Amino acid sequence: MASSALQAFLDKLQQLESAFEAAVEEVEDPEELESIRVTYLSRRGSLVQCLSQLKDLPDEDRPEAGKTANRIKQRLQDRFARIQEELQQKRDRARRQDFDPTLPGRSPRTGTLHPVTLVSDEICSIFRSLGYEVVLGPEVETDFYNFEALNIPQDHPARDMQDTLYLSDSIVLRTHTSPLQIRTMQEQSPPLAAVAPGKVYRRDADLTHSPMFNQIEGFLVDRRVSMADLRGTLAHFLRRIFSRDIQVRFRPSFFPFTEPSAEVDISCVICSGKGFSQDGSPCRVCKQTGFVEILGCGMIDPEVFKAVDYDPEEYSGFAFGLGVERVAMLKHGIDDLRLFFDNDLPFLDQFRFYPAT
Ligand code: DAH
Repeated sequence: MASSALQAFLDKLQQLESAFEAAVEEVEDPEELESIRVTYLSRRGSLVQCLSQLKDLPDEDRPEAGKTANRIKQRLQDRFARIQEELQQKRDRARRQDFDPTLPGRSPRTGTLHPVTLVSDEICSIFRSLGYEVVLGPEVETDFYNFEALNIPQDHPARDMQDTLYLSDSIVLRTHTSPLQIRTMQEQSPPLAAVAPGKVYRRDADLTHSPMFNQIEGFLVDRRVSMADLRGTLAHFLRRIFSRDIQVRFRPSFFPFTEPSAEVDISCVICSGKGFSQDGSPCRVCKQTGFVEILGCGMIDPEVFKAVDYDPEEYSGFAFGLGVERVAMLKHGIDDLRLFFDNDLPFLDQFRFYPAT
């Protein structure tokens, strides 16, 4: 028969175990379990407190009390470890369910080529397919290449400070890509055919002009090159870059580096040459004329040949120059030049799947 002190001690242990059982029964997450551990099993928890009362028991009760206490302590610890393990497994299972390996991965956001670059590349590739090479030159240019050798006289308005960005008396930011005619002809002898894409600069900024824009210069030199070659080449090119059924029209014009010179119009790609939009309103792009200007061209002036030591009696050639932004606007129906410089991602993203050449 246990002494009443022993009985009281054993009852206390029993109560502690029941309370612990009731608490872990309900436990849902590791944080709750941790607070149960602190309450019952930590160094200041109720189990340690209870065990500290062992020493107050009469000597003859201590062995049994100690044995029972150790058994209960072991049971509580085992139970705790099991529950901890179960919670961990539950958590792992939930994580596995959240993870769907069949979902597509998140691909990194990549940039795209700018529409002006795409159109410039496309134009160059059309000319490459005709046997032209692509040549590049400096954007900081001398007066000689930008003006002098191209037969642009001293008093020509293009040389005015109003139009040209001068870096010094004789150094400019090139105002066109025509200097590449001179640079290429200096380096090579005929026959030659090249296109020269690049940035050009002018003192000009309003809704329809940007101080920097892109041009492509094209030129071909050989024996007996005629205006008919120029016309055939440009008509072919324009039909490839726009559409097969556009009309091409040559108008007499003037450029210092070509003689004769012409400006080329194509039937308006926005209203299909009708002069009116689908809703019957006048076409804003061609201003009801049915045609839009697209490039300047002509037969290379003998004066230009003289500047590069070509014999104008032996050789002839043609040249043309066009604005890439303008071609891109007409080709893609873009009505605001500023869109090319705003870096507006939704605008630029529309060209993501435009075939690069
Ligand atoms: N260089 C001219 C400009 O910037 C464009 C041009 C016109 C180039 C006629 C040519 C040409 O080669 O023949 O406006």
